[in-house]
Amino acid sequence: MRPSAAAFGAEAASAPRRRFAVAALVVVALAAAAVLAWRSPIARGYMLFHGHAALEAKIFSGVALPVSASACVNCHEGAASGGPRAIARLDRTTFSAPRTPRGGAPVSYDEASFCRLMREGVDPASVMVSRLMPRFDVSDADCAALFAYVSRRP
Ligand code: HEC
Repeated sequence: MRPSAAAFGAEAASAPRRRFAVAALVVVALAAAAVLAWRSPIARGYMLFHGHAALEAKIFSGVALPVSASACVNCHEGAASGGPRAIARLDRTTFSAPRTPRGGAPVSYDEASFCRLMREGVDPASVMVSRLMPRFDVSDADCAALFAYVSRRP
């Protein structure tokens, strides 16, 4: 049986609809990829901060720390337990304006000075922080992820 004129018409009309559907899918997939690419360093930073991903660190004297002890959250969560704590809670308030945590010149961090502190323990005013802050053997990518996370953290 020959297809009717109406069937031809329906087919002709569905082709642009299919093209539109494919284009819409491509746009959605690209948007999802962009969101993931934007989010993933922050997600990685979250994992590192909370000890869900391992970070190599040494205490000041050069002794390697067990991975469970090097998670930032262990020391930087403020006074959640009620005890006095001089160690900064790392969040966007800490990173939004210059502060004088150790007296002397005000310090404000960008990614480079944050990573220097992580690796060498020296702050942006060239003051060495406490020996209790581990020295981290952290890759550029992980350090950037940590900075992205802590500097946006509520
Ligand atoms: C064992 C405890 C401990 C752990 C774990 C730790 N820190 Fe620290 N951190 C400290 C101490 C102590 C200081 C220094 C406080 C001072 O000297 O004023 C410090 C200082 C800092 C500072 C400077 C803050 C300021 O006020 O200028 C940053 C930034 C920082 N730590 C980031 C991190 C990050 C990121 C992690 C996890 C990857 C981490 N720390 C893990 C103890 C720790």
